[in-house]
Amino acid sequence: MRALVVDPDVPGSLRLGTAAEPVPAPHQLVLDVRHISLNRGEVAFAGRRPPGTVHGYDAAGVVVRTAADGSGPAAGTRVAAFGAGAWAQRMAVDTTAVAEVPHQVDLAEAAAVPMAGVTALRTLRSHAILGRRVLITGAAGGVGRYAVQLAAIGGAYVIASVGSAPRAEGLAELGADEVVIGLDGIDRPVDVILDTVGGPQLPAAWDLLAPGGGVQNIGWASDEPAVFEPYSLFSMGPAKTMSTFGDVHEVGPDLATLLGFVAAGRLSPEAAWRGSWEQVAEASRALLDRRIAGKAVLDVTRLA
Ligand SMILES: NC(=O)c1ccc[n+]([C@@H]2O[C@H](COP(=O)([O-])OP(=O)(O)OC[C@H]3O[C@@H](n4cnc5c(N)ncnc54)[C@H](OP(=O)(O)O)[C@@H]3O)[C@@H](O)[C@H]2O)c1
Repeated sequence: MRALVVDPDVPGSLRLGTAAEPVPAPHQLVLDVRHISLNRGEVAFAGRRPPGTVHGYDAAGVVVRTAADGSGPAAGTRVAAFGAGAWAQRMAVDTTAVAEVPHQVDLAEAAAVPMAGVTALRTLRSHAILGRRVLITGAAGGVGRYAVQLAAIGGAYVIASVGSAPRAEGLAELGADEVVIGLDGIDRPVDVILDTVGGPQLPAAWDLLAPGGGVQNIGWASDEPAVFEPYSLFSMGPAKTMSTFGDVHEVGPDLATLLGFVAAGRLSPEAAWRGSWEQVAEASRALLDRRIAGKAVLDVTRLA
């Protein structure tokens, strides 16, 4: 089958090549993949994987083989999926990591949801946000645009931080109450911070945190170090916290929740870049250069 495989000798370390058919474990189904989506981490670090690895985690397609243990959806069901080896014509994926795509939802848009959507959902869910001031950094990006929408659904006052004025476009419509460049103009403490940027902005954001508040670090898109001045983590009153995130265990139910929001018109997948997987280098470059407002979705085109 054809697949996007790791090749350290090409720009971006990914090329369309061939790979062996996946061999499903008893708790896995086989998906005929129709669309995939890119995430910054996978694209940025593709070259760290062994050459020939089938890369990627986000896919949407149609079940072609049910799991041997009887779990999961029937053959012919349209599903979104999260699992290693997604960027291929077929993937074997745990039945606990897929969700049926409601008939109202476009399958390509569903491919934009898994990693970024579940990350935003799970990080927000670990904080009380109703009526709270929630700051989202990297708000124009893949995770950020889901976080803005879900924080608004959850009843937060949403402050969306972007890197430059043009990147503010569309965020108010998605539910941001304020859009700021960097941290400029945030004149009152915030209760929760979802941070996808890291770097020097992180200690500056920490200083904005109210007593009892929490920073949820999700990623480090800036790729720059963060320096906390001595004693800057000291604060009087209820503890301020900083948390990590990497919980992608059994995402199926959360994926179903997100697709339900999409079906109800409450959540936009923000599939801003569309093209064939033959264009993976172009899409990856645009993502890394901060030129995509949301997600890149690639179609798994067949050979003529
Ligand atoms: N922990 C997990 O499980 C998990 C899951 C998903 C993602 N992540 C991580 O979360 C981060 C965001 O992922 P994503 O897919 O949302 O990425 P993305 O779509 O590329 O968005 C990243 C955002 O970061 C902002 N940014 C600020 N400074 C930057 C800089 N110096 N270089 C590049 N971007 C900068 C950009 O802002 P502007 O657009 O305003 O310029 C961009 O919108 C990545 O580090 C990713 O690896 C972690």
